[in-house]
Amino acid sequence: MKDKIIIFDTTLRDGEQVPGGSLTRFEKLEIAKQLEKLNVDVIEAGFPISSPGDLESVKEISKALKRPVIAGLARAVKKDIDACREALKPARRPRIHTFIGTSDIHVKFITNTTREEVLRRSIEAVKLARNYCDDVEYSAMDATRTDFDYLCKIVEETIKAGARTINIPDSVGYSEPAEHGKLIKDLMNTVPNINKAVISVHCHNDLGMATANSLAAVMNGARQIECTINGLGERAGNAALEEVVMALKVRKELYNLETAIKTEEIYRTSKLVARYTGISVQPNKSIVGQNAFAHASGIHQDAILKKESTFGIMSPKSIGITGHELVLTSRSGRHALSHRLEELGYKVTAEELNLIYVKFLAVADKKKEVFDEDLTAMMETEGKKGFDASYVLEDIYVATGTKITPMATITLKVKGKSFKAAAIGDGPVDAAYKAINSIVKQDISLVDYQLKAITGGKEAQGEVSVRIKKGPIEVNGRGLSTDIIEASARAYLDALSKLERTKAR
Ligand code: KIV
Ligand code: ZN
Repeated sequence: MKDKIIIFDTTLRDGEQVPGGSLTRFEKLEIAKQLEKLNVDVIEAGFPISSPGDLESVKEISKALKRPVIAGLARAVKKDIDACREALKPARRPRIHTFIGTSDIHVKFITNTTREEVLRRSIEAVKLARNYCDDVEYSAMDATRTDFDYLCKIVEETIKAGARTINIPDSVGYSEPAEHGKLIKDLMNTVPNINKAVISVHCHNDLGMATANSLAAVMNGARQIECTINGLGERAGNAALEEVVMALKVRKELYNLETAIKTEEIYRTSKLVARYTGISVQPNKSIVGQNAFAHASGIHQDAILKKESTFGIMSPKSIGITGHELVLTSRSGRHALSHRLEELGYKVTAEELNLIYVKFLAVADKKKEVFDEDLTAMMETEGKKGFDASYVLEDIYVATGTKITPMATITLKVKGKSFKAAAIGDGPVDAAYKAINSIVKQDISLVDYQLKAITGGKEAQGEVSVRIKKGPIEVNGRGLSTDIIEASARAYLDALSKLERTKAR
């Protein structure tokens, strides 16, 4: 059987220490409930002594949640431990997590005392906490910069005092993976009573190694990882829960370890935390970033449609996202285009696809990304029905400004032959329509003209709808382009082509 890694989530404590990320009590409770759904083993709900609000929040979470262990943080001092005790009273499975700095720099500049005194306070704090609850965790803050022999002594003595979990924090994100793995291994081999406690790690991300350090630690005997959703936390943050959990899952043949996390809840949890903290996830963030399952290269898109594992090491569904997103750009191929069209409900033949692909590339060349709305509009205006158009726009040139008379030059293909004409008008659209009229030589009146933007942003496509009339016949036409004059010309030509078909019928 695989060994289990305990997932200790500290989003509501270390995560909340991120500047600007503070949460209301309601938000903390909602996040805690979602963490319960995610099935984390331990939720560090807060630091009760830090404020009456935090104490109440830990109490509320303790009351509301049934399954996970609820931990409260306390410095190695009586008043902190008492506050924790009070906050955790309603918890079904309470844990008091007490800590003190053990590196010389912390002993000297933070506690202002000696190694001996820190050892004494650690033992006393653990004993006091054990009077209140069975589940006590002790953290040797700044462990990775602590003298190794002293660290061994403190771990041994706090286990003797009753700590069931010993946390070895890389509080300043200083460690690197091989070193961190070795530290855990050396502790496992040196401290005589180490197997009486669970060894935990708590890695900060100052050098971007929090996930790697946590994984190196579990490869060497640690069995609890402290982490946060989206990697939030003090300074550069903590190890990201989604990263450590998915690494253990995707590379299970390597680690041979498992967690109880319901990974399908990861994405929802990440979104909730981002929304409540107001700290959005960077697009290229592993696992939960907007681009983590988005494929922009044409070669990748084609491959992933043939077999997901060509460029996907995990399924988006495994973290709760419905599917790989194929970002349609000018680099996308026919396969990706027809796949998306099919998803949108358009079934096209190979021959039709070739024609649509040319139109698609024309749009994609002008826009960074082609959205579903662009495709729908393209299919409805110049898609299938565009194949039997009588009038096809080949080229349009307009000159306009505040001090010149607007002028348009149009080249059209009419029944396979090209025609060119120029005209001036009241505005560029009027000039373009006059130039078209001089080629088609028909007496047309424009009944209605409407322009709207589809999709947002400055590269949005403009969609023009027109209604034209010739004698008793009235028809509509629609045109689409990132250039609104071109969209206007296309709409007019679409209506003219429809007029021809109507007349023929
Ligand atoms: O980074 C750290 O050392 C901590 C402790 C309180 C565990 O957050
Ligand atoms: Zn921390």
